[in-house]
Amino acid sequence: MKKLMVLSSVVCAMLCLCACGSSSKKLVMATNAAFPPYESVEGNEIIGIDPEIAKLIADDLGRELVIEDMAFDSVIAAVQTGKADIAMAGLTVTEDRKKNINFTDPYTEAAQVIVVKEGSEVTTPDDLEGKTIGVQIGTTGDIYAEDIKDATIERYSKFFEAINALSQDKIDAVIVDREPGKVFVSENEGLKMIDEEFTVEEYAIGVAKENTELLDQINASLKKLQESGKIDEIIGKYIKAE
Ligand code: ARG
Repeated sequence: MKKLMVLSSVVCAMLCLCACGSSSKKLVMATNAAFPPYESVEGNEIIGIDPEIAKLIADDLGRELVIEDMAFDSVIAAVQTGKADIAMAGLTVTEDRKKNINFTDPYTEAAQVIVVKEGSEVTTPDDLEGKTIGVQIGTTGDIYAEDIKDATIERYSKFFEAINALSQDKIDAVIVDREPGKVFVSENEGLKMIDEEFTVEEYAIGVAKENTELLDQINASLKKLQESGKIDEIIGKYIKAE
């Protein structure tokens, strides 16, 4: 009897060690935290809409959220190679990306917009023809810019670098997501956003193709969070209605 008890406590301890130490308990999120209000660095914390939604999902799944900040054009590869469980980076759903990863149901709508200097001759998307356009590498803005006739594309690793180049007249316009665009315009004097949206998009969470169990779990979680109004609450905290 005594032997059995010793044995069972050893087994218990081992189980606990495995469960507590294993990475399966973590939910690793790949992001690029230079994209306010979706994700940005504040002090030594990553804040924004995406980390807050991810935290609620992780809580719901009983997992510990770990955020890995990296280059935007690495977030999909991070999920594909298993370095991260999810890619959540204001990530637009595209047919091309669907070849490499699965997307959850979208959690918000988005758009690409054009930011220019006040007084710019660019007043509609058509005016971008022949212009020098700044984008963040690997974003949908980068992809759309490729279709603009005679345009020169300047690719930056972070959006704010493109915004700085615009302020310094090194480029004519920046194609960026609407809400981050609004933040950049409000933080940099002399810039404005063109009213006409370039494209309308949706953001979703990227999950590895083979990880369909996680995909289903996150979709179930997202549904609950949407129904309870928690997602709208988080978005409303960061994006004020006009
Ligand atoms: N929505 C765009 C895309 O998916 C840009 C996302 C950039 N995200 C970021 N965290 N820097 O391509």
